[in-house]
Amino acid sequence: MNKNMHKDKILVLDFGSQYSQLIARRVRELGVYCELHPYDMSEAKFREFAPKGVILSGGPESVTGEDALPLSGFLLQGQIPILGICYGMQAIAAHLGGKVASVSKKEFGPMQIELQGASPLFASIDRALGVWMSHCDQVVEVPEGFVVLASSENTPVVAMAHEGKKIYGVQFHPEVTHTHQGKEILDHFIHDICGGVSTWTSRNIIEELIEDIQKKVGSDQVILGLSGGVDSSVLAALLHKSIGDQLTCIFVDTGLLRLNESEQVMKTFSDHMGIRVIRVDAEQTFLQALEGVSDPEAKRKIIGREFVTVFEQQATLMKGAKWLAQGTIYSDVIESAGHGNKSKVIKSHHNVGGLPAHMQLSLLEPLRTLFKDEVRKLGLALGLAPEMIFRHPFPGPGLGVRILGEIKREYVEILRHADSIFIEELRAAGWYDKVSQAFAVFLPVKSVGVVGDNRQYEYVISLRSVETVDFMTARISQLPYEFLGHVTNRILNEVSHVSRVVYDVSGKPPATIEWE
Ligand code: XMP
Repeated sequence: MNKNMHKDKILVLDFGSQYSQLIARRVRELGVYCELHPYDMSEAKFREFAPKGVILSGGPESVTGEDALPLSGFLLQGQIPILGICYGMQAIAAHLGGKVASVSKKEFGPMQIELQGASPLFASIDRALGVWMSHCDQVVEVPEGFVVLASSENTPVVAMAHEGKKIYGVQFHPEVTHTHQGKEILDHFIHDICGGVSTWTSRNIIEELIEDIQKKVGSDQVILGLSGGVDSSVLAALLHKSIGDQLTCIFVDTGLLRLNESEQVMKTFSDHMGIRVIRVDAEQTFLQALEGVSDPEAKRKIIGREFVTVFEQQATLMKGAKWLAQGTIYSDVIESAGHGNKSKVIKSHHNVGGLPAHMQLSLLEPLRTLFKDEVRKLGLALGLAPEMIFRHPFPGPGLGVRILGEIKREYVEILRHADSIFIEELRAAGWYDKVSQAFAVFLPVKSVGVVGDNRQYEYVISLRSVETVDFMTARISQLPYEFLGHVTNRILNEVSHVSRVVYDVSGKPPATIEWE
């Protein structure tokens, strides 16, 4: 990314809070470019990054404990404004000679606080404020030169500041929506205190990305694996706008896609947008490779392997290509950097990273500084249809992990049809955009039913619909019984070989979202 245009940058240092990424997203929503780095970023890197301000995240450790993550002293020596959130505030207090102590009663959830004094951080903020707390430690004595800006019934120091040095701390989480006016508080910090200017808009981002891509790629040819998912779709549109005919997309039809998905991808990208897309019909290859295999992990491995093989074959045919474009986004970059929530499981994707060495393709990852919501906004600004941009996630192995056990063409057809009815009805009833992910699952067990006067002995379809923020935990969607009844009737009447429909009411954990 062209770093010059966004002169004003905010740095978020990550002490391991589950909300660290959220802080960075909020700052960007306020129009200032921002990056998340580990808490122990080196001074040299810090100087190079040259932030207008620094936000220290919360974290699970105790500043008084053995595993405390230390605050780098150089941060507090310069003139750059700092805002510590939760652990961040406690780390500042401890570092500067204040006192931090454990509290007997952990404060977690919504709390009422009272502001006191006047500070630019809280200009325009209600004096009695509802905030979100999550802490076991608290500052009991502020460092010299600091004033207390807020307190609550149980916490004497909910916010503190050294206005002269522009060092601030809040015990609560302004980045979560449960904190009233939280975004306004961050706005005051980055605009009024740090003096950041908002230049981070979709239009600017697109202009910059295009300039960067053109500069990097020159007149070279670029290959992109198009899956029809949000990231690769937005990337295709962006690359096409940047380098036109120098882009060739490869779209592998695994035979495990949803109803009409393959046709839709070709229609959107090839017919409407004039992008060169090579569609590889690999259904036969995939189904053959999967024949007789019922173990979920083995199925995933085979699908992944076949995908790479098919992609490689096509890519090798494109002799002049120099670049392989990938839809890596900022969360992938942060997660693979290994800071933040270390326990998080990263989903395996079909990254086509294993291309033959002789091709010597260089990686092109223009979206790697963007969060998912920014990628979506970019897609809309590039003219992609909202239905495509706001689609539910679809796993790399496709319907392959939604047919339990062995995959057969007959099962794929039944599932596709049932799934399309469910999705069509969710859209018609206005539920599609309210739930995070919904789909049908094929169960290869037979149950008895009666149609007309005939006894039927056929398969079972399970409907699954969940609500989640991060897909790490999820609860089921409370879809109305009438709605479920209507979808069930349609599936039983319209899809052959199904005699029963059930609704999966398991949350995650312990159940995962996909059935395999
Ligand atoms: P689980 O089933 O682990 O799924 O609760 C969480 C989210 O990840 C998606 N998922 C995958 N995505 N390749 C992907 O690209 C995969 O192998 C894969 N497995 C699960 C799943 O659809 C859900 O959104």
